[in-house]
Amino acid sequence: MNHGHQVIASDNLQSGHRESVHPQAIFEQGDLLDAEWLKHLFKRYPVDAVFHLAAESLIDLSIRDPGRFFRSNVSGGINLLDALVPAGVKRLIISSTAAVYGEPKHMPITEDHPLNPVNAYGESKLALEKMLGWYRRAHGINYISLRYFNACGASQRYGEFHVPETHIIPALFEVAMQQREAFQLFGTDFETSDGTCIRDYVHVTDIADAHVMALDNLNRIGARIYNLGNGKGYSNAQVIEIVEAVTGHKIKVIPRPRRPGDPAILVASSERIHKELGWQPRYPELEGMVESAWTWRKKHPRGYESKNMSSSQANGSTPPLDETRPK
Ligand SMILES: NC(=O)c1ccc[n+]([C@@H]2O[C@H](COP(=O)([O-])OP(=O)(O)OC[C@H]3O[C@@H](n4cnc5c(N)ncnc54)[C@H](O)[C@@H]3O)[C@@H](O)[C@H]2O)c1
Repeated sequence: MNHGHQVIASDNLQSGHRESVHPQAIFEQGDLLDAEWLKHLFKRYPVDAVFHLAAESLIDLSIRDPGRFFRSNVSGGINLLDALVPAGVKRLIISSTAAVYGEPKHMPITEDHPLNPVNAYGESKLALEKMLGWYRRAHGINYISLRYFNACGASQRYGEFHVPETHIIPALFEVAMQQREAFQLFGTDFETSDGTCIRDYVHVTDIADAHVMALDNLNRIGARIYNLGNGKGYSNAQVIEIVEAVTGHKIKVIPRPRRPGDPAILVASSERIHKELGWQPRYPELEGMVESAWTWRKKHPRGYESKNMSSSQANGSTPPLDETRPK
């Protein structure tokens, strides 16, 4: 919108928040699995580009219920691609993930790293990426796939809030705000300097900038995949320390055994998008990302109104967490 575009946002609101849609955007509630609704949507609006972010994205759930992920992320993706064809939409930017790489073979992870997902979430995103090439060949749909590492942070207006909360930073905030009793730390015996696993964090507004750059350059580029990370890893113990420093609260931590499929270290090389599109994160350090998230959360202690029970209150207990996984 700040770039002069009219935005139509669409979500089935199974986990999204109506309040997180900018008031100047048109909102249409609907499900990617409803192919007819999607086709009708593109008949009602003259769309010239699509950002596809909707997904099932909880990794633990993807191990327990893979069908749900292949339905939403693959079948839903096919429905979307099939709706773009008659509508004549030739520009598509999708949210992909570090989970397409699986267990890292080298660090930092470049886009040409082998692709061996270790969960159905990563596999479903990889399948979607692969389909894009075929639709481009057959129907001329140009695309950019952005493989985010760990997204975090907030803008002044919008922040991160999930029910149940499975992301490390908002989960730590819930402990700081006494909405959750303790933080469960999965894995303290990794081969890292402090034994906790290491992840690469990228601020949500830097991700948004990358989307705008991708859109502006898409016709010139045609088809491309880019990692989005800062190239700097923070261990979970460091994240806890930073949250304690930013919030001024001591976090109670319960060590738990590590879970299968959690690599020790995931750090991105984002050299490709830096060189080709000039993307430069405005938040290179985690402290600034956490500060932005905390500023938003203090103003919205219960998150978004429509889902305003914290996860721990919702089920009366501390939920199983998935704080350390790439999405
Ligand atoms: N958050 C991260 O760290 C991270 C990392 C890598 C990739 N990603 C990807 O970025 C995108 C956004 O992630 P997020 O963290 O905001 O996830 P999220 O789960 O908060 O958002 C996904 C949205 O998709 C909607 N949705 C799900 N299935 C749908 C369907 N069938 N039809 C319509 N809407 C549907 C949900 O209601 C939700 O609003 C996802 O594609 C995710 O895989 C996120």
